[in-house]
Amino acid sequence: MSESKPGELTTGSTPISKELVVGVSGASGSIIAARLVSYLLEAGHRVHLVASKTGKLVAHDELEVPEGTRGVFPDMEHENLKEWGEKNFFAPFASGTAPIDGMVIVPCSMSTLASLAHGISDNLLKRAGEVMLKERRPLIIVPRESPLDRIHLRNMLTLSESGAVIIPPVLTFYQHPGDSVSEQVDFVVSRILDHLGISNELFHRWGSEA
Ligand SMILES: Cc1cc2nc3c(=O)[nH]c(=O)nc-3n(C[C@H](O)[C@H](O)[C@H](O)COP(=O)(O)O)c2cc1C
Repeated sequence: MSESKPGELTTGSTPISKELVVGVSGASGSIIAARLVSYLLEAGHRVHLVASKTGKLVAHDELEVPEGTRGVFPDMEHENLKEWGEKNFFAPFASGTAPIDGMVIVPCSMSTLASLAHGISDNLLKRAGEVMLKERRPLIIVPRESPLDRIHLRNMLTLSESGAVIIPPVLTFYQHPGDSVSEQVDFVVSRILDHLGISNELFHRWGSEA
């Protein structure tokens, strides 16, 4: 029997591939999205990637991507990765009939958060999120802003009440990460994967053997 890879779902020895949407909006923290997407691809899952216009600009700035690059994560070509333009409402996952297993919006700007909380779907990323909510499928939102005002908090509550899971990219300390940003990123990615039902060992879990 073949060994399964980390993050791979199996039934018996047959891997089960999930089909997921990852949305990147114009908040800080695209490194988390990049790590999530590469983990999912490595584990054999299929990823539809959609960035908002500002999402792509902020990601390129933070990840130091050369000007004029088309894709949001240019070093990440993979047969199971497909990137969609933010205005391409013809993408299959703009409809609830597409068999999508879940969506993660990471990072989620306060603007995209507000739109989703109020049913405004003026780009593909927001439409995909709306579809997840109406179809009662997993929608994981990683909001990034600090401090949060009442409007932000109300919008998060509205989305939580509609079934979304809110995973703020908070710091972890109980695993003694020292000054490693990548360990902090892996902690957030791990929490996202947990809520997608994808097993992972990206950080040392509380109570587990050292
Ligand atoms: C470098 C940079 C960083 C930003 N960081 C954040 C952020 O962390 N959180 C946030 O809500 N907005 C942030 N913004 C503002 C959003 O990009 C802006 O509100 C935009 O309209 C969001 O559009 P979108 O939700 O369609 O991506 C940032 C903008 C820039 C240029």
